[in-house]
Amino acid sequence: MQVILRQLGDCNIRRAEPSDLIPVMEINLKTLPEHYSDYFYESLLAEVPEAFIVAEIGGKHVGYIMCKTEYGFSNFKKLGFVKKGHVVSIAVLDDYRQKGIGRILVEESVKGIKLKNCDEFHLEVRCSNNDAVRLYEKLGFVIRQQLNAYYRDGEDAYLMAIEID
Ligand code: ACO
Ligand code: ZN
Repeated sequence: MQVILRQLGDCNIRRAEPSDLIPVMEINLKTLPEHYSDYFYESLLAEVPEAFIVAEIGGKHVGYIMCKTEYGFSNFKKLGFVKKGHVVSIAVLDDYRQKGIGRILVEESVKGIKLKNCDEFHLEVRCSNNDAVRLYEKLGFVIRQQLNAYYRDGEDAYLMAIEID
């Protein structure tokens, strides 16, 4: 059964299902240089379906966000060991950007990560990716670290994080 979370005009934002994975991989291939194995997509959907979300317009997939959870040191508290959500990847197809879809994907993933009882949510983003950094900042993420040569091509990443109440 499809779980529709939000609607934005004719765009449905809903939880992903196994049949969404191929279209999600296609969006990933078109929009980002970081790609993953089929198995990895399947395992994220199996493990954190609450925060694996797609945007669809009239049967066409236009965006996705997918996340994992992990235990580790807090990005906020000294010496704290916490459960954390981690945005693995988010993208919206070029023609569908700047309509608010990206924002809703992140907002709904925050809700999904809350359901997983995480204390924090974080992500890595290329320092040059102004659009994405601005979106995350608007939603309350803050830059906590700069990770040197994080990407294969040598670019640095910002580690951005938000505390979940
Ligand atoms: N009319 C005009 N502008 C609007 C409207 C509207 N109706 N709705 C929102 N906007 C503006 C927002 O205010 C925002 O403006 P700003 O950049 O000046 O602050 C801008 O549009 C973007 O916001 P959204 O529309 O919510 O986001 P979008 O759907 O464009 O998606 C994303 C953002 C996902 C970063 C997109 O640019 C993308 O897919 N980029 C390529 C892939 C990528 O870089 N992904 C992130 C990598 S990092 C990681 O995956 C952890
Ligand atoms: Zn992480």
